[in-house]
Amino acid sequence: MSLLENHVVLITGAGSGLGLGIARYCKAQGAVVIVTDISSEKIQQLASEFSDHDLALICDVTKIADLEYCQQQILQKYGRLDAVIGAQGIFDGNVAIKNMSAAHLDQLFDELFQVNVKGYLLTAYIFAEVLKANKGAMVFTTSTAAYAADGGGAVYTATKGAIRSLIQQLAFEFAPEIRVNGVAPAAIGNSQLKGPKALNLDHQKQSDIPKDAFLNLFQSISLLQELPDAEDYGALYAFLASKQNKVMTGQTIVADQGLLNRAVLTH
Ligand SMILES: NC(=O)c1ccc[n+]([C@@H]2O[C@H](COP(=O)([O-])OP(=O)(O)OC[C@H]3O[C@@H](n4cnc5c(N)ncnc54)[C@H](O)[C@@H]3O)[C@@H](O)[C@H]2O)c1
Repeated sequence: MSLLENHVVLITGAGSGLGLGIARYCKAQGAVVIVTDISSEKIQQLASEFSDHDLALICDVTKIADLEYCQQQILQKYGRLDAVIGAQGIFDGNVAIKNMSAAHLDQLFDELFQVNVKGYLLTAYIFAEVLKANKGAMVFTTSTAAYAADGGGAVYTATKGAIRSLIQQLAFEFAPEIRVNGVAPAAIGNSQLKGPKALNLDHQKQSDIPKDAFLNLFQSISLLQELPDAEDYGALYAFLASKQNKVMTGQTIVADQGLLNRAVLTH
C-alpha cells in the first residue's frame, strides 16, 4: 500500500517550487491533493495536471474568506481532510536592516509576517476542526534561517523562527487528535521564491541570486554537495502528513544537506 493511499491532502502555496514538488510527490504516493495558491496564473497552469480526483483552487492564506471557501469546496467534494501541508512564503531580499529606511522596515515586517506567519496560523485555525475529526496532520515549512544567522535578512529570519515556535504550540493545543510538525529546508533548486513589495522586489526571483555564486558557496559548505529540488523534500512531508507518523508531533526536521553540521576549520 502506498504511503498516502486514502489520504486527502491540502497544500497551500503549491503553485511552484516546494509546494508543487510536494503536491506531485503526494499524488504519486496515492493521495488526492488539493493544490492552492494566491496566484491565479499558477493555478490555471496546474488545473489540467490536478483535475479528475484532485482540485486546484486560488487561495490567499492571509484571507479568512479564501480559507473558508477552500474548506467548503473540500468538504463538498471529499467530505474529509487528512492533512494540511503549508508551503507558502515570501523572502525579504536578504537586505540588512541598516540598508533600509525605518518606513520600509515597518512595511516589510507587516508584509512578511502576514504571509509567512499569519498565513500558517489562520490555515491551522480554519482546518483544525475538520482535521480533528479524522486524526489528521499539519506540516508547515520553516527554514534553516530559524536556526542560524545569514539564511535571509532579519525579518525573514524572524518569520521562520516564529513558524518553528508556532509548530510547537499548535502541537500542544491540538493534541492528541492532530499531529503538527515542520520541515526546515536550506535550499531549493527549482524555487520561484519572490521578494517583498515593501522593497520593490516582488517581481524578482530571490532564491538563487546570484545563482552561480550561491551554488558554489552552498556546495563548498554543505556536506551533501547537491542542491536539492523541491521534489526531493516530498518524502519527508508525505511521511509527516501520513497516518504512518505515529511517533512525532511538535518537531521540525532540519533538511539542510548537512549545512548546519559543521564549523569551519577545514577547507
Ligand atoms: N527557496 C529556498 O531556498 C527555501 C529555503 C528554505 C525555506 N524555503 C521556504 O519554502 C517555502 C516555499 O518557497 P519556494 O522556495 O518553493 O518559493 P515559491 O515562490 O516557488 O513557492 C511559494 C508559493 O507561495 C505562494 N504564495 C505567496 N503568498 C501567498 C499567499 N498569501 N497565499 C497563498 N500562497 C502564497 C507563491 O505564489 C508561490 O507559488 C517558503 O515558505 C520558503 O520560505 C525556501
